[in-house]
Amino acid sequence: RLRGVVAMDGPSGTGKSTVSRRLAIAGEAAYLDTGAMYRAATLAVLRAGLDEQSPAEDITAVAVAAELESITDPAAPRILLDGEDVEAEIRGGPVTMLVSAVSAQPTVRAVLVERQRKLIAEALGTVGGIVVEGRDIGSVVAPDAELKVYLTASEEVRAARRGAQDRKAGRAGDHETTLADVRRRDRLDSTRATSPLHAAPDALILDTDDLSVDAVLDELLRLVTERG
Ligand code: C5P
Repeated sequence: RLRGVVAMDGPSGTGKSTVSRRLAIAGEAAYLDTGAMYRAATLAVLRAGLDEQSPAEDITAVAVAAELESITDPAAPRILLDGEDVEAEIRGGPVTMLVSAVSAQPTVRAVLVERQRKLIAEALGTVGGIVVEGRDIGSVVAPDAELKVYLTASEEVRAARRGAQDRKAGRAGDHETTLADVRRRDRLDSTRATSPLHAAPDALILDTDDLSVDAVLDELLRLVTERG
């Protein structure tokens, strides 16, 4: 059984979500997808009729006021916006295009990080363990995590995985467009002033180009068992 916090960071297309959920299920722990929180806040921004050109104060005001509820069951993780399950809608093109701009706002980050810490504390108090995935978990949200993992992979491999995921979910997208989006989000997420994407100094870095999800999971289960 997994105790404490496992921080899973890294860019998209590294298999992070799949591995994180499966690790939580195997370890009978809770699971928090912080990216889904930024995405749902972004959906609220879109629904308010705002976009990339809107004043940062307006974007921030809507994003922090959004009524979000994260369901941390790894078998059926969900995010609710105003009580509505928006899990499918937040994965679509419009949200994906705008999310990096919303998550770069320092006040948005401060508010969501606060909520993430609360959810983590709750999970530790109930099931005793939680796998948290995002971009800044080991560095900012849970710097005292028992285990910090940073998953990487080449841009090409990540774009190919994202494309496969999109097709499976019935979303169109050619490889070039997906690759361009992966690059754009990497650049925005890595260069923002507040909590840019980077591996925490004490994170275990796993390059997943040549590793299957099962291989990554095996390695993590070994580490968790070793440390638990
Ligand atoms: O992981 P996912 O692709 O769903 O994350 C969507 C976006 O949310 C990222 O591109 C990033 O801009 C933002 N994010 C973040 N910090 C996190 C998780 C996600 O800034 N901890």
